[in-house]
Amino acid sequence: MGPQAFSDMAAIREPNDLDLALDPDLAFFKSADDFFSAYGHLGLTYDDVTLATGYSEVLPRDTQLEITLAEGLKLNIPIISSDMDTVTESRMAIAMALNGGLGLIHYNMTERQQLSEVSRVKNNIHGLIQDPVKVSADQMIGDVLNLIEKRKFSFSTFPVVDGDGKLVGLLSGHVVKPRYSKRKIADALTPRGQVHTIHQKELGRDPIARADKFFTDHPGIHKLLVVDEQDHLRGLFTMSDVERITQERSAQFKPARDSRFRLLCGAAVSATRNAFGELDRNRILAHVGGLVERGVDVVAVSTAHGHSKGVGDTVRMLREAFPELPIIAGNVTSAAGVEYLAEAGADAIKVGQGPGSICTTRIVAGVGIPQLTALYVASRAAQKKRVTLLADGGIAKSGDVVKALTLAHAVICGGIFAGCPESPGEVMEISGKLYKQYRGMGSLAAMKAGSATRYGHTPDPARKMAPEGVEALKEVSNSVDQVLAQLIGGIQSGMGYLGAANLAQLRQKARFIRVSPAGQREGEPHDVVELKTTT
Ligand code: XMP
Repeated sequence: MGPQAFSDMAAIREPNDLDLALDPDLAFFKSADDFFSAYGHLGLTYDDVTLATGYSEVLPRDTQLEITLAEGLKLNIPIISSDMDTVTESRMAIAMALNGGLGLIHYNMTERQQLSEVSRVKNNIHGLIQDPVKVSADQMIGDVLNLIEKRKFSFSTFPVVDGDGKLVGLLSGHVVKPRYSKRKIADALTPRGQVHTIHQKELGRDPIARADKFFTDHPGIHKLLVVDEQDHLRGLFTMSDVERITQERSAQFKPARDSRFRLLCGAAVSATRNAFGELDRNRILAHVGGLVERGVDVVAVSTAHGHSKGVGDTVRMLREAFPELPIIAGNVTSAAGVEYLAEAGADAIKVGQGPGSICTTRIVAGVGIPQLTALYVASRAAQKKRVTLLADGGIAKSGDVVKALTLAHAVICGGIFAGCPESPGEVMEISGKLYKQYRGMGSLAAMKAGSATRYGHTPDPARKMAPEGVEALKEVSNSVDQVLAQLIGGIQSGMGYLGAANLAQLRQKARFIRVSPAGQREGEPHDVVELKTTT
């Protein structure tokens, strides 16, 4: 070894040069630009890399997770539930928004149904049971007992209404007892004049605070009924719900709301074609017009191939017709794809072709890019075009979210939420375990139900469609609140390790290193008998 080689080694062995050296060729832990350029010949995904820790003064609990995806579209956590028919309808979208995120209502339903799903989210008042179970004065108490038994209700107090839905009184749980079963409700109810009610329009911007004050001012009263000007029943607050919500309000992440204090809601639309194979402009515009009327906060033009004329034309048309409406479009996995959709007028671009847990695009079409490389390439175009990026698919654990957020502004998850009680679909029992259905929007069943356009097929049963997704099951999981709490905890830990106080700093401070298969094994529990898994 000559003297020159010795002096090179000396330079490399300076401790500072080993990790975050100024010379990118010398650094072990590289910035996104240096790292992904060095691996330009290789498609990488989440498990292929790990993030280096950096000096930190940031405590995980103090990290800020807000993200503005477009003007007028600010989330308090960077997590979106996927526009899939086994993931997001109104119940999921409400749960996501209450936690500070966003749900995208899928489009495998009629346009009218989608409008009413959006309305449900936009009209949701947390804690207000908007359609309480009612009884009528001519029923017997025995009928009510049967109803409770049949529907397994855990409550026994019911508003009593007439045929027009006007409030007649309240049937208190104190009289819903077998000994009174032969009595008519009319003879046992608390009459209208003695029932505590509030007018819908008095609820104001913060209905929970209003209801909370009512319960404080009226000791012993546990139910508050909401009526309109004609005395129609419009809802019911219970003290226990209100107390639970009031306690939760100290939570770090506030619900994601619009300027009128309504929960945020997104909806997917497809680039629908008419019988001549042309973009069905009138239908798309009427559909999105309806969504906007209902208060939708963002539409997502969701297709498997976003870098295509149909998607570009749809985005351009929507941008022109609805200049203020935030638009998400995708999916792409190239810089050119991001630029194309950004130029068409999209604000946020979905990145991901084939990473999803139910996707078979890469197998069927031989197409798609491992997700982290796709995100890197897309992120450079997004920076240039000043659009935001959504990492769509392939998220299996909170560490994947942290890695995704080093390049993207938010993540879209399907599988992680598909087992939650808030996702659509029935729970089924197989060999003593509980499952829910989870299927790709490109699976045969989903395409038959309407999503064929997303994959460039016609929903024509006579023509054979090549599925690009599977029909699967997910084990029933915890509620969205709990699943999100785990994900958020992981994101905050990751940010603490990197010294990132907010998501912009996370993107800026991330340093990557490739892991070997042995390194991957080392990163998972090993050489133990695992009793409990939490990822
Ligand atoms: P995860 O991994 O969260 O992925 O379950 C959800 C994302 O997968 C995409 N998606 C599909 N991709 N064939 C595909 O190739 C499909 O049938 C399919 N269905 C959904 C979509 O981007 C979703 O958000």
